[in-house]
Amino acid sequence: MKKDWDNSAITAARAMPHTARVPAELHIGPVRIAPATVLAPMAGVTDTVFRRFIKNASMYAAPPSKPSTPNPEPGAPGQLAGWRGGPFSVDVETSNEVSGCGLIMTEFTSADGLSRMRESKRKRYLTYYEDEHPISAQLFGSNPATLAESARICQDAGFDLVDLNLGCPAKRVVACNGGSGLLRDLPRIKEIFEAVRGAVSIPFTVKFRMGWNDSNIVCVELAKMAEDCGLNALALHARTREQGYAGDARWEWIAAVKDAVRIPVIGNGDIRTPEDAAAMVEATGCDAVMIGRAAPANPWIFRQIAQYTASKQATGIGVYDRPTDMDRYRMIRDYFERLMAEVAEHPEVVGPADDDLSKRLKRNHESAQRDAIGRMKQFASWFTHGVPGGATLRREIFEAKRGAQVIERVEAFFTQSDRATETQRDRTRETQRAVESDAPFEHDAELEAAPAAWG
Ligand SMILES: Cc1cc2nc3c(=O)[nH]c(=O)nc-3n(C[C@H](O)[C@H](O)[C@H](O)COP(=O)(O)O)c2cc1C
Repeated sequence: MKKDWDNSAITAARAMPHTARVPAELHIGPVRIAPATVLAPMAGVTDTVFRRFIKNASMYAAPPSKPSTPNPEPGAPGQLAGWRGGPFSVDVETSNEVSGCGLIMTEFTSADGLSRMRESKRKRYLTYYEDEHPISAQLFGSNPATLAESARICQDAGFDLVDLNLGCPAKRVVACNGGSGLLRDLPRIKEIFEAVRGAVSIPFTVKFRMGWNDSNIVCVELAKMAEDCGLNALALHARTREQGYAGDARWEWIAAVKDAVRIPVIGNGDIRTPEDAAAMVEATGCDAVMIGRAAPANPWIFRQIAQYTASKQATGIGVYDRPTDMDRYRMIRDYFERLMAEVAEHPEVVGPADDDLSKRLKRNHESAQRDAIGRMKQFASWFTHGVPGGATLRREIFEAKRGAQVIERVEAFFTQSDRATETQRDRTRETQRAVESDAPFEHDAELEAAPAAWG
């Protein structure tokens, strides 16, 4: 399914008032989310390696809240690294770093599965690192008691928030009435809201679609019910279940939900650029924006939003850095090295594996390798679009059998002499900025065609 990404959001962004920008923060219950940006949960994508990778790619040096002059001399008092009254070089040494990504979420996890699993297996699903806070655990299911129990497990595991998925259109999830299947059964949703609310003290949120189809749009009613049941925030992916990913997200429904409740509303659907993010806030009044597919295609998106927001606040003009080929190279290598570091936690068994322990270790190593390679291939297909010669690199990566081979091919690709020249040229353009960019988001057919397990 090919979608027209060049939608009205871009036009709206151009016509946006200077004040339109993503809020600096929001509070979900007592949890402060700053800035008001959220990495959307994405099954098969947003595991701990990817989440930390994105958080890291989103680091930028916070500008002073009020620069004394628009372009202070480097090193002037009060100046923070990277801030020159404008955006930041993508690889500037930064200090006082903050991440432009305010909140990350786990991939959806089955509440039924979680409540049945052994403690040791649960850990695999609920793994996160300290630097991921604040982090939300997303659950799906349809049984109120099971969801309540699983939410408690997430709370005990130290998550800052717990989220209920009412958006997943996947047949196997909908078949057992989970995900968007529940949108046809508001009384059951109410029971779930009450059960989970009663089970945990951490903030409880819900992410949902507008309804099952156009004759059953329930998002406003559902939002009010969530607020009445004590939920702390809502995230709306402004499409129906039947819509899948077709057409544009209908932001007017985010505005309708925002009008109907007092709890924070997080807008989601089709944000691909900082301009889109600001346009969504302007058009809907939402308290935060959530970004899904744009993140693997452009891991700098959160940093760009932060730069755009900061520069817009300081000067009225939103500007942000755009990555060069060399930045892309560093980014892909960084992500792959992170994946390989995970594999290294399951070392290879040398020699014959003839006792139970060695067999298990061997299995673990092989499964970690397979998983890492699968993720490298998936990421490469999203991330190398737009890189000159990217198709060759994708093919080479797809042919590789081991993680180390993938990294070698990435290295070779980016250090070939012709590419090196090109990259050198890119470096000289490094100050290139997207000023109120009109560059459309690079649409990625492979990402669009990903499995129907999407929310
Ligand atoms: C590969 C993939 C997996 C997804 N998995 C989930 C999920 O586990 N839970 C969920 O609530 N939404 C899931 N979604 C939906 C996204 O969170 C988001 O709502 C959707 O992609 C729209 O936002 P976007 O236009 O910024 O991509 C998934 C989307 C994609 C592309």
